[in-house]
Amino acid sequence: MAAVTYENVGRVAVVTVDNAPVNALSQAIRIGLSEAFDRFDADGAADIAVIVGAGRMFIGGADISEFGKPPKSPSLPDVINRIEASTKPVVAVIHGTALGGGLEVAMGAHYRAALAGTRLGLPEVKLGIMPGAGGTQRLPRLIGVDPALKMITSGAPVTEGDALKSGLIDRVCEGTDIRQAALDYAQSLLAENAPARPVSGLPQPADTDSALSNWRARLNASLRGEVAPLVAVDAVGAAVVMSFAEGLTEERRLYMELMETPQRAGLIHAFFAERAVAKLPEIAGIAPRDVARIGVIGGGTMGAGIATSAVLNGLAVTLVERDQDAADKARATIARNLDAAVKRGKLNAERRDAILADALATATDYATLTDTDLVIEAVFESMDVKKDVFAKLDAILPRGAILATNTSYLDVDEIAAATSRPEDVIGLHFFSPAHIMKLLEVVVAGKTAPDVVATAFALAKRLGKTAVRAGVCDGFIGNRILSHYRTAADHMVLDGASPYQIDKALTDFGFAMGPYQVSDLAGLDIGFATRQRKAADAHPRDRYPTFADALYHKGWLGQKTGHGYYIYDKGDRKGRPDPEVEQIIAQARAGAGITPRSFTNDEIVRRYMAAMVNEAARVVDQGIAQRPLDVDVVFLYGYGFPRWRGGPMKYADQRGLDAILADIRTFSETDDHFWSLAPLLQKLVAEGRNFDSLNQR
Ligand code: COA
Repeated sequence: MAAVTYENVGRVAVVTVDNAPVNALSQAIRIGLSEAFDRFDADGAADIAVIVGAGRMFIGGADISEFGKPPKSPSLPDVINRIEASTKPVVAVIHGTALGGGLEVAMGAHYRAALAGTRLGLPEVKLGIMPGAGGTQRLPRLIGVDPALKMITSGAPVTEGDALKSGLIDRVCEGTDIRQAALDYAQSLLAENAPARPVSGLPQPADTDSALSNWRARLNASLRGEVAPLVAVDAVGAAVVMSFAEGLTEERRLYMELMETPQRAGLIHAFFAERAVAKLPEIAGIAPRDVARIGVIGGGTMGAGIATSAVLNGLAVTLVERDQDAADKARATIARNLDAAVKRGKLNAERRDAILADALATATDYATLTDTDLVIEAVFESMDVKKDVFAKLDAILPRGAILATNTSYLDVDEIAAATSRPEDVIGLHFFSPAHIMKLLEVVVAGKTAPDVVATAFALAKRLGKTAVRAGVCDGFIGNRILSHYRTAADHMVLDGASPYQIDKALTDFGFAMGPYQVSDLAGLDIGFATRQRKAADAHPRDRYPTFADALYHKGWLGQKTGHGYYIYDKGDRKGRPDPEVEQIIAQARAGAGITPRSFTNDEIVRRYMAAMVNEAARVVDQGIAQRPLDVDVVFLYGYGFPRWRGGPMKYADQRGLDAILADIRTFSETDDHFWSLAPLLQKLVAEGRNFDSLNQR
């Protein structure tokens, strides 16, 4: 049960916060802390108090589940002021993590120490808010304005070593026993007669190097619509010009303002959604199979990326290619990926060499896979090729080994049927580059065994990826929905919008990239191949983007050829618009007998999002995604959807499903084939419900 305990050990009062799993500062904990410090003040037997966390960390932060609900007293700022006002010294001794409100509690103490391996941070901006319990006022007093802004606007935690250097903590404790470390530190402070030392009493921080305006400029250039980090800069600005008490009031005001924003709701939805995706009833309590060595078939970009991800995360890999030359190329690609990880500081050179020598084997013979626990196939996207690979694997792999396909659209049931053990077959759809992108779609086929699903989720966790369960259909969750809204964009181009306007409207909306920038990055040959593949299933009323084929036939394949929708001058990855592309598009319109019209940016966003939401509703309705939140996580992790909007389904709920439905009805007046309404959307609107109402099941 959530509780704060108080215990006298000699002259030391040990105050322990105990609220598993992360010691969040719920109302019960806030009351407990207040009472503990009332008791400490009156306790003649105690000369110093230490605050510690029970279990695996100090305090993970405010209780996020209370956000957006009426505040319950005592408030965290009051509790922290109460702790700081103690006339006897108070120490926070930190292990594991001190985040958000947790670090603010520590800054309310007079002395701070941490065990090795601790992370300290103020991640509030990642939830669309900012520190609201003194963090923006106390941190700059402790470490200076510029370092405080860095921590607060990034939300990124620092190590105990960095915290010691900056002055955020006073010492790094020996050992791993938090209670012993706390008692030892308290004893040494007592021996020194250390006084109470409130941070609020430190000198007012000065904005010496124009840190405030520098950070504002930097954030304005990079944020794409997210507001919290900029508001946090204002709060730190208050610390520079106001008294501590006035600064606290200003901080609270700004904090409450952010608490009311849809961005806060979107980001907190994202926080809980990314945790909920792994909670599947079908694998609850089911033990995953052991995976120590994996096999990868195919050493192209995808296969090499998957192998890189695996070796980086401690797995042994055997990669099979069709001949020695291809195997050597795959090894070289993986080595390059690892070099890049060394450059980014994710890996040291010795570890890279050890991985290449011991953890990675490349081979040309399937027989080398007999000691693998799971094999991922990443060969050419052809059903015949895949069936052949799976039949071979079936013949040589021991029973119990898992056979996975990285196909991005093929029917996993059909692939599974090529084996004698369809229960061991699953889809693991990685996103390129596979060692960087965080999303993994786990495609569960009709006969896939639950412990194989559990193993896929365990593997994703091991690889540091977010796994989302998907059912079998062309494109699964992400690519199926993408194909639909991408078509809506092409329709707008055919009808008169320029690809540059569309990209601008959507990056202004918050997407990392617009659809035509994405085409240029991925390569226009990819889109061409997809259109060819789907041609057989085309409906007579489908509208065809002939302009895209025209660019492809000119050899303008995007960034890799220096020319696609945009022109890429040497060394430039941003690209500039090309009037010739606009001419090609104009010809395509003329060829189709279309009189171009203009689009506002607002209409572009509405059409794009309505197409996305409409198809996503079908994907949920058909059980391809289990819940709307699964769609949200796919788009946040795999498609550059702005996190502060929470995902497409959260966006739809925030805009109002009735408004989206009304848009679709309007759009369908001129094209009722493309804009056929998803039954689920219609049903939810009729029942006055939203997508979130389906997230609870
Ligand atoms: N309030 C309420 N619940 C929280 C929480 C918080 N601040 N932090 C974590 N939880 C919950 C999670 O939802 C999860 O619940 P579940 O088991 O029902 O899914 C559980 O605690 C464990 O969290 P998880 O993230 O899975 O554990 P972890 O060990 O991987 O990470 C943290 C621990 C603290 C690093 C991570 O949870 C985190 O970053 N939390 C948010 C911290 C934050 O932003 N604090 C600022 C708020 S002011």
